[in-house]
Amino acid sequence: MPLAHFDGALAVVTGAGAGIGRATALALAERGATVIAADVDLAAAERTVTLAKTLGTGGAAHRVDVSDAAAMEAFAAEVREAHRVPDIVVNNAGIAVTGSFLDTGTAEWDRILGVNLWGVVHGSRLFGKQMAERVNALPNKPEKPNYGGHIVNIASAAAYAPSRALPAYCTTKAAVLMLSECMRAELAGSRIGVTAVCPGFTSTGIARNATFAGLDSAGAGALRKRGEKALRMRGYPPEKVAERIVQAIIKNKPLVPVNFEGHVLRALSRVSPASLRLLARVPAPQG
Ligand SMILES: NC(=O)c1ccc[n+]([C@@H]2O[C@H](COP(=O)([O-])OP(=O)(O)OC[C@H]3O[C@@H](n4cnc5c(N)ncnc54)[C@H](O)[C@@H]3O)[C@@H](O)[C@H]2O)c1
Repeated sequence: MPLAHFDGALAVVTGAGAGIGRATALALAERGATVIAADVDLAAAERTVTLAKTLGTGGAAHRVDVSDAAAMEAFAAEVREAHRVPDIVVNNAGIAVTGSFLDTGTAEWDRILGVNLWGVVHGSRLFGKQMAERVNALPNKPEKPNYGGHIVNIASAAAYAPSRALPAYCTTKAAVLMLSECMRAELAGSRIGVTAVCPGFTSTGIARNATFAGLDSAGAGALRKRGEKALRMRGYPPEKVAERIVQAIIKNKPLVPVNFEGHVLRALSRVSPASLRLLARVPAPQG
């Protein structure tokens, strides 16, 4: 049975210091969850917890780089020891790398694979194991099966929409989507739900920390400004994504496209992949 509300639930959210992660942490706190806000930026995670506390629930902030296997292992152990096994894990931390495939070097691939893919692998595996052990240790109740928990992985509409401007980003997000489907099949046996969330453009600060492969610093600076402005102008707040995440957990949804382009690109990927191949050829804007 999926959780109908989050009273008394413990939720871990990565990248909870800003954007979609912060909005999700607050949406869960608003519904009664205690939130563990994890971020590479500790001060930002602490601000999220302060805001969550005004909503009446407790919480804690942790500094962790999701791409660091040892740090994530220590973090998962600390959560279990200081709190308990979480009921909800939202693997949200992510970064953007733009630029052509030929311009994207191994350092840039390492960085984005580390955060966007390994971060999701670590968070899902470490907390998924805790959840599975907990539920499998409980006495079996066929009339009312025990609830194992829920893992949400933030992918993107880029998971199913190729782009010559975002090859590394699209690749990591497609991997997160497939990983989520595989995990969902496996973890259903432990009554752990898994959701992949695929938002289109969302008005957050993600462009601020993006890497622009193949551009000098002036070009990258100009493109960063354009990216920030475009996301601001899109006018789709992270709080709306958070609302969809909450509903996805309650309804145990496998795949959740979010906003207009999230839905349109998903539909095109199914009915007209050729049109997406054409769209993928639109060149990256130049700084
Ligand atoms: N904004 C969009 O248009 C959009 C669209 C689709 C999907 N997404 C995805 O949503 C997720 C959240 O993005 P956002 O737009 O809120 O970005 P954001 O930049 O506003 O927030 C990301 C947060 O993650 C943290 N973070 C970055 N690297 C980290 C690491 N290695 N370890 C721990 N924390 C780290 C940052 O400090 C920041 O607080 C990402 O996975 C992103 O790919 C964003």
